Amino acid sequence: MPKLWPLFGLSLRTERLDLTPVSDGDIDELTSVAQSGVHDPDAQPFANLWTDRQGSDFEQRFAQYFWAQRARWSVATWALPFAVRFRGRLIGVQQIQADEFPVLRTVNTSSWLGSAFQGIGLGTEMRAAVLSFGFDALGAEAAISGAYAYNVSSIRVSQKLGYMRNGVRRDDIRGEAVEAVLFRLAREAWLDDPPLVAEVRGLEPCLELFGLP
Ligand SMILES: CC(C)(COP(=O)(O)OP(=O)(O)OC[C@H]1O[C@@H](n2cnc3c(N)ncnc32)[C@H](O)[C@@H]1OP(=O)(O)O)[C@@H](O)C(=O)NCCC(=O)NCCS
Repeated sequence: MPKLWPLFGLSLRTERLDLTPVSDGDIDELTSVAQSGVHDPDAQPFANLWTDRQGSDFEQRFAQYFWAQRARWSVATWALPFAVRFRGRLIGVQQIQADEFPVLRTVNTSSWLGSAFQGIGLGTEMRAAVLSFGFDALGAEAAISGAYAYNVSSIRVSQKLGYMRNGVRRDDIRGEAVEAVLFRLAREAWLDDPPLVAEVRGLEPCLELFGLP
């Protein structure tokens, strides 16, 4: 499979975490982590409301999400969800994504952790891991992120990593207009004071998929 889909040979490592592109073998365990709770049900953090689904609808659509990212991949526009392991267990997903990457050189991130693993700095560490991948390995010029105003943890992660506020957006969440706070981190700011440098393995065979020499 790594030959056909070299991303399956890619990995990022930080002090406490291992990140590998979500494989089919990860999906069952990630489903269980997600089903055991990711957020307060009254404070939906995701624009696509995936955590509102129940039962087999939740499970099938959850798996389809990861298959869809592989099926849709193009050099210009891609989304790479990483399975995050801590002490040998899967604990969540950290995605890095880009639209028109060869021109815009901007990466977007999104993530979730099982509730049991939140609040001990792992969300910051996994975001930093993909920022290191984006800036150091892929040569991104900027990273963007956004979170609803009530999502203090996500906003705090962006602030801790040096992002600057970059406007707002309004989303329809369960029929209500909800304001998202948008953030941007410039390459220079990252390189000036990187909180970590992830150990990247298996990049070389993947470069073509990102349009890199
Ligand atoms: C967002 C998420 C990935 C962050 O991961 P995490 O491991 O919880 O984050 P960290 O522990 O690295 O950092 C969280 C920060 O928020 C702070 N925080 C959390 N709740 C807070 C509150 N109510 N008031 C003030 N600060 C708060 C923590 O103190 C910490 O900051 P600190 O290190 O300065 O003390 C995780 O919380 C999560 O999965 N949430 C649910 C899904 C989600 O919201 N995903 C993002 C969608 S945009």
